[in-house]
Amino acid sequence: MDDFLASPDFEFGQRSLSRPSATLGILASGSGSNFETIVDAADGGILDDCRIAGLVCNEPDAACLQRARRLDVPHRVIDHRDFPDRTDFDTEVVDQLTSWSVDWVIMAGWMRIVTPAFIEAFHRRILNIHPSLLPSFPGAHAVADALEAGVRMTGCTVHIVTEDVDDGPIVAQAAVPVRSDDDVDSLQQRIHRAEHAIFPRAIAATIEAGGTPVE
Ligand code: GAR
Repeated sequence: MDDFLASPDFEFGQRSLSRPSATLGILASGSGSNFETIVDAADGGILDDCRIAGLVCNEPDAACLQRARRLDVPHRVIDHRDFPDRTDFDTEVVDQLTSWSVDWVIMAGWMRIVTPAFIEAFHRRILNIHPSLLPSFPGAHAVADALEAGVRMTGCTVHIVTEDVDDGPIVAQAAVPVRSDDDVDSLQQRIHRAEHAIFPRAIAATIEAGGTPVE
């Protein structure tokens, strides 16, 4: 059985995309495998005409920072614990992205709820990836929640970020079958493979379309 099935617009070879030009800022909180996939796509892949301005990470010990050093991508830790509230934290993140002249914000495993001020600053120019077939299993434990629910199919979703958490227009999805012997780690690994396959193309297609999901 295949590991995943991507929504048709994003299957390789089915739709030709131009290579859009934009400056991207990446937000990540964890391992950064999606971040690295995007950097790779900007180095000879579908995002070759995009510039990765930098990575913001809110966790000082997150592995995405090591990747940024290795990949020679500018990076900054902005620890949410240093701010009195979400709005002050988001203001600092927006200021950093603005100083990098970012036009598109890519949330690649960003485990923070964003405030209206953030969404207003980059209206319709924020993309998020989430490890489930939204609207099923929003929240921070999507893979465990899917296993717990006993679904036979889960996956990942790329969507435009709006004020509602894990909501907003869906750009691309990939379905990942759940195996009877899956645990969170094994299922997460296959979801990651699906994420890496669809995320760069979904970013390219959304930039090309100017911030609306491609019909
Ligand atoms: C990804 O699976 C992504 O979908 C998820 O975090 C993981 C980050 O992995 N995002 C969320 O759960 C957002 N609600 P990575 O650091 O290896 O890219």
